[in-house]
Amino acid sequence: MTVKAHIIYLCNHKSVSMKKIFLLSISVIVIQACTNNSNKGAKRMALEKKVDSLNAFVQKMKPGLGELMTNIQLHHEKLWFSGTNLNWKLADFEIGEIQETVEQAKQIEADRPETKDLVMLEAPLKTVSEAIENKDVEKFKLGYANLTSTCNSCHQLNHFEFNVIKTPTAPPVTDQEFEAKVNSEGSLK
Ligand code: HEC
Repeated sequence: MTVKAHIIYLCNHKSVSMKKIFLLSISVIVIQACTNNSNKGAKRMALEKKVDSLNAFVQKMKPGLGELMTNIQLHHEKLWFSGTNLNWKLADFEIGEIQETVEQAKQIEADRPETKDLVMLEAPLKTVSEAIENKDVEKFKLGYANLTSTCNSCHQLNHFEFNVIKTPTAPPVTDQEFEAKVNSEGSLK
């Protein structure tokens, strides 16, 4: 007989005092509340377990600072060949990719102490961006040299001085056109 059925049974038997029924009702409420609570506790524990395993998965899958840097390196190279070929739209795209990856590194690698130094790229990236906007190849080259030496300053500051970045001498890929297909005014040649 369930507890509820017990109460109904007792209620139907006059010999049982109201006090007993009252006490029994209270115990039913307490039992139900406890069952609800332990259900909630189990659900909560299952959720916490899931969050923990998702966190571990994210940690395993997220790109490391070295991978993000390799991505920055590729766009740094492409930036040179697009800018010096007066391909300003592509140069603008490449510098945008560097900026995006820097922002990504700040967010997902926030636990690496070096990422606080990424801010030093802001000023040189801005100067190169302005040169691109003004289609000024001489300013672009000066800005690019300054950007590259900032890459190295940060490597030195963070004990990665053996990792030296320089102006590339050959395009990083052969399956992409770096020469502008548009004239300096931005219209098709
Ligand atoms: C916040 C300071 C900082 C700045 C600014 C910075 N780097 Fe790095 N870079 C690092 C650190 C730290 C590492 C080592 C990452 C690791 O532990 O894997 C690194 C590694 C690298 C690597 C090595 C990847 C490899 O596997 O060979 C390259 C390439 C690189 N950076 C390119 C650049 C370029 C290009 C720039 C400038 C556009 C730049 N970095 C700017 C801090 C910086």
